[in-house]
Amino acid sequence: MHPDPLAYLAAELDTLNRQGLLRPLRVLQGEQEAAARVDGHRVVNLSSNNYLGLATHPKLRARAIEAIRTLGVGSGSVRTIAGTMDIHVELERRLAEFKRTEASVVFQSGFTANAGTVASILTAEDIVVSDELNHASIIDGCRLSRATIHVFPHKDVDAARRVLRSLPAGRRVLLVSDGVFSMDGDLGPLPALSALAEEFGCIMMVDDAHASGVFGRNGRGTIDHFDLHGRVNVQVGTLSKALGALGGYVAGSRTLIDFLHHRARPFLFSTSHPPAVAATAIAALDVLQEEPGLIERLWENTRFFKAGLAALGFDTGASESPITPVIVGDAAVAMRLSDRLFEAGVFAQGIGFPTVARDRARVRTIVTATHTREALQFALEAFGTVGRELGVIA
Ligand SMILES: Cc1ncc(COP(=O)(O)O)c(C=O)c1O
Repeated sequence: MHPDPLAYLAAELDTLNRQGLLRPLRVLQGEQEAAARVDGHRVVNLSSNNYLGLATHPKLRARAIEAIRTLGVGSGSVRTIAGTMDIHVELERRLAEFKRTEASVVFQSGFTANAGTVASILTAEDIVVSDELNHASIIDGCRLSRATIHVFPHKDVDAARRVLRSLPAGRRVLLVSDGVFSMDGDLGPLPALSALAEEFGCIMMVDDAHASGVFGRNGRGTIDHFDLHGRVNVQVGTLSKALGALGGYVAGSRTLIDFLHHRARPFLFSTSHPPAVAATAIAALDVLQEEPGLIERLWENTRFFKAGLAALGFDTGASESPITPVIVGDAAVAMRLSDRLFEAGVFAQGIGFPTVARDRARVRTIVTATHTREALQFALEAFGTVGRELGVIA
């Protein structure tokens, strides 16, 4: 018998377990809905990114089924060989129109859109200036590019300016920020960062994964919200959250998109989406246009729930979006809060290091357009009871 060469992994898991940080995967029994069944419990679901309820919307279901019937279940190839179907091209035309750019390209996920784009447009000679709370996929893209990485404190435009001033002349620089930060729910200071990018001649990139379908006219995102059309060179979005399906995309100039077709490795070396996924995303764009009431309801629910958490005395950070963190500091307390909420019928995940800083552990909540007032009220009461029980609030 040879010793198990992976035994060290069990030791790492033991450490996590002792720290109260071992998190088994919660399993959804049935659909991704605001009132869901998870691990055998009926719960108010405050953990999904299904902001508008589109993951189960009848129009999206119908288009997916129709696409399966008429186009099959798989694309059979990477995009650059035989995997570009006319429905992929139609989706990209619609996304470019949605984001008001010349062109767009779809990736398998938002993660690969970020990582594949940053890694392909930069080289080891280049520089990235990046917010400290940018998404992991941006960080991985920066690492893969081998560019020099400068991280500025969260949303600190003056610090970003100091970094830019200190850089050697003549270097290519990417300035990158999330539009909505996924763990805090606050917005990137995009008007100021765009002005900085223009002043220093940087490439400006925004990851709008949590903003598309949520901010801007008909959910066009933070670039529309801040009226920055034409001033952000690389816009990344996802089809996996508010749009209810799966995938990521980059919107920008025709030149950028043509370049990504030739150099972005996830685009070149991984099979394209099944046609039903593309059809679903097109249907989602139609719904954003046809049913603006969904976004209004999302915001009404967001305001109601945020006000309720604040009235209970929780620290909800600086959120400006439907993502509202309940910050408790210690990771073991955050996990305990999440577990007790779950027992009380509320599904809100605990989040600790390395996803957030060690002393900023939290339970993250996301309301959707499809939560009823009664469900949100029930969740607030559970937060109150469990929060007091654990001494998180007085
Ligand atoms: C800010 C941000 N960017 C990108 C992604 C990745 O998107 P996707 O889930 O489509 O891969 C996420 C999602 O987890 C995110 O929160």
